[in-house]
Amino acid sequence: MHESAKPFRVGIIGTGRISDIYFQTLNQYPQVEIAVCGSLNLDESRAKAKEHKISRVAEPEAIIADPELDCILNLTIPAAHASVSMAALEAGKHIYSEKPLVSTLADAQPLFDLAKRKGLTIGNAPDTFLGGRWQTVRKLLDANTIGRPTGCTAFVGTHGTERHVANPDFYYQPGGGPMLDLGPYYLSVMVFCMGAIIRVAGMSNRAFDKRQIEYGSRTGEWIEVDTDTHVQGMVQFASGAIGSITMSFDIWDSETPRFEIYGTEGTICIPDPDPVHGANIFQGEVLYRTRETSRWTHKPRPTGREHWQVATNSHGLNQDSRGIGLIEMADAIAKKRKPRCSGELAYHILEVMMGILDNSGGQFTEIVSRPPIPELLPERFPES
Ligand SMILES: NC(=O)c1ccc[n+]([C@@H]2O[C@H](COP(=O)([O-])OP(=O)(O)OC[C@H]3O[C@@H](n4cnc5c(N)ncnc54)[C@H](O)[C@@H]3O)[C@@H](O)[C@H]2O)c1
Repeated sequence: MHESAKPFRVGIIGTGRISDIYFQTLNQYPQVEIAVCGSLNLDESRAKAKEHKISRVAEPEAIIADPELDCILNLTIPAAHASVSMAALEAGKHIYSEKPLVSTLADAQPLFDLAKRKGLTIGNAPDTFLGGRWQTVRKLLDANTIGRPTGCTAFVGTHGTERHVANPDFYYQPGGGPMLDLGPYYLSVMVFCMGAIIRVAGMSNRAFDKRQIEYGSRTGEWIEVDTDTHVQGMVQFASGAIGSITMSFDIWDSETPRFEIYGTEGTICIPDPDPVHGANIFQGEVLYRTRETSRWTHKPRPTGREHWQVATNSHGLNQDSRGIGLIEMADAIAKKRKPRCSGELAYHILEVMMGILDNSGGQFTEIVSRPPIPELLPERFPES
């Protein structure tokens, strides 16, 4: 897979909450090797290394300088993404980062310039669209099952992270908020299914100026909210289709969470099996209705879910596989092609999110970037 048939050697920086699933996924694939991990808290990193059988722990600076590594996996908090990724590129490493790519558009261009100059690859989460569920959606669309897509909608209503995260501060600071935190999943799926976005508008507000932590050792502590926590956006695709997106940390509960795509011949519905994280996972049912099975017919009105057809999912990756985007990137580098979870896609999503959030003028924002649209994965990936 890797050009020298040696595994692609990865150093992980950031060993917090999300790192476990990366350790688990990457440890399953011989194509990559986690050579070392580290963070600002080496005790935390040592514990993770022990748990996931990683032989070496080091300071972030030492990891970045390690000449034996091919890639830095950046699992730090959003505010540190730009500096860690920049340092890694300067040291000649490919990078794969958690979302968002960086916290401001201005931080992104220097990364791309440097990567281009050094012939390095930038990959970025989310990789959930590589999961069987989303590959199935795309296959339905490619097969024209619902005709020409004309619209879509994505909705996540949660009550934020302070109920299940011990240190939720970064979610409520600039660079956090529900759009930058959850938007990348839903917008990446939109672009994967519907193509590039060319124009956006948005509105946002916040219900609370302070939040009380309800989980872990800081329970009872109040934290400041310095970003909007209820965001609604409108998007227009290059195809002419339009979409809406609601990402919120201000909703106590809702029956709405779901992702839908509307076409000239039918509807695809991704129901939310988990009201908090439904569409940002790899697996789950894909339902569709067409002209024949639509509720809005003159035939006796069907009721309930039985009138949705369940799409056949023949793809792999139907479990949490965060990190698979890095495996795919290693494959892409070896084969000298673009990775599916590309930095360009992440930049496009960032531009869209910033356009939705920058609503001060009440106008539409033109989206300039045109990312490569990821191709379907082979049904079995990686191929053995
Ligand atoms: N927690 C989740 O459920 C989740 C899910 C998906 C994506 N993410 C994303 O993953 C990233 C990390 O989230 P998390 O929940 O694991 O955060 P966390 O706070 O639990 O862990 C962050 C880690 O980064 C390290 N770190 C922070 N700043 C650093 C710096 N300047 N240099 C080196 N190391 C640094 C910390 O020491 C810690 O090990 C974020 O971008 C987040 O959006 C998190």
